[in-house]
Amino acid sequence: MILVTGGTGLVGSHLLFELASKGKIIRALKRAGSNTELIKRLFSWYDHERGDDLFERIEWVEGDLMDIVSLQEALKGMEYVYHCAAMVSFMPDDKEQMLNANVEGTANLVNVALSTDIRKFCHCSSVAAIGSPEKNNLVEESLVWKTSRTNSWYAISKYGSEREVWRASEEGLPMVIVNPTVVIGPGDPARSSAQLYQSVKNGMKFYTSGVTGFVDARDVARIMVMLTDSDIINERYILSSEDLSYKELFTLFAHYSGAQAPKYRAGRFLSELAWRLEKARSLMTGQKPLLSKETARNANIRRHFSNNKIIEATGFKFRPITEAAENTSLFFKKYPVYLSPDFRMPS
Ligand SMILES: NC(=O)c1ccc[n+]([C@@H]2O[C@H](COP(=O)([O-])OP(=O)(O)OC[C@H]3O[C@@H](n4cnc5c(N)ncnc54)[C@H](OP(=O)(O)O)[C@@H]3O)[C@@H](O)[C@H]2O)c1
Repeated sequence: MILVTGGTGLVGSHLLFELASKGKIIRALKRAGSNTELIKRLFSWYDHERGDDLFERIEWVEGDLMDIVSLQEALKGMEYVYHCAAMVSFMPDDKEQMLNANVEGTANLVNVALSTDIRKFCHCSSVAAIGSPEKNNLVEESLVWKTSRTNSWYAISKYGSEREVWRASEEGLPMVIVNPTVVIGPGDPARSSAQLYQSVKNGMKFYTSGVTGFVDARDVARIMVMLTDSDIINERYILSSEDLSYKELFTLFAHYSGAQAPKYRAGRFLSELAWRLEKARSLMTGQKPLLSKETARNANIRRHFSNNKIIEATGFKFRPITEAAENTSLFFKKYPVYLSPDFRMPS
């Protein structure tokens, strides 16, 4: 039996569908206030006939990464754990909460896993946990993390989280780690990378000059299952389909959603100005800023990601990002309510 954490998130929901459609028996951890409505929609989106039935077969249990007793309960009788729960944020005010959930929360989970008979632990890390290359801007699994002023708190928390999993592997937990680039797919547009589509659909005017890797959420889910079912242990793999500029991604989203593609380039100067203005607006209104120093600076970095290791290990063929953008857009065309400015996910 399998435990999935973070099943209500973008990556976790796609993983749940992948596992359910393979007939696996799944338990999913969710917090008391988590909403599963969008996940149910996602299941029928991917399988019109069997979606509802597949969704009903998931056993949802309440728990939190910070609540060790709930993790002990959730892990009872489990053979495999997929850990997708994390706080994804680039807002400096979320630092403490993010370090708690991502580092301490992962330590709690692997410690409980070490005390049970878990056969394999699959950890969803991030390329952010690998760090920044000093020379040619190419990120590979072998890169060694370096402390730097430019590391975001999200990256630091994901690095700390991954370290907990490596520590547990040394203490005897068989594990495998995936490090996805930016994940594209239908999900709650209020959070994580799912926000990108909504921004373009809402008529975002500016793009930045950055380049990064992107991967389809369905591919991340498929590879996580493939690696967990394989004999591979104690390795990490970058999951990335292709490197695109933000302009290219936004143009794809605009094409499929019928919105205008962002026209104006926000260079370094404009980006620096924008996050400062956003900070001032946030201080004056008490609302969360829409942009932080970290998001503004990251959006101008040009970075490339190697997917050679996972392709050599599994022969996997990644979907092009055009397919991920089209899938995302078609989902929201079918369920436009999620994009409405007044819509809040009920808890
Ligand atoms: N999206 C990307 O582009 C991307 C790229 C690379 C790596 N990743 C990694 O992929 C994983 C999933 O990200 P995502 O994009 O799916 O994020 P997401 O949509 O924001 O989902 C996060 C999930 O984590 C759960 N969670 C957060 N804090 C928790 C806690 N204290 N206890 C239990 N559950 C908790 C959330 O539950 P609630 O529903 O209760 O909030 C939700 O299910 C993360 O590890 C992230 O670092 C994501």
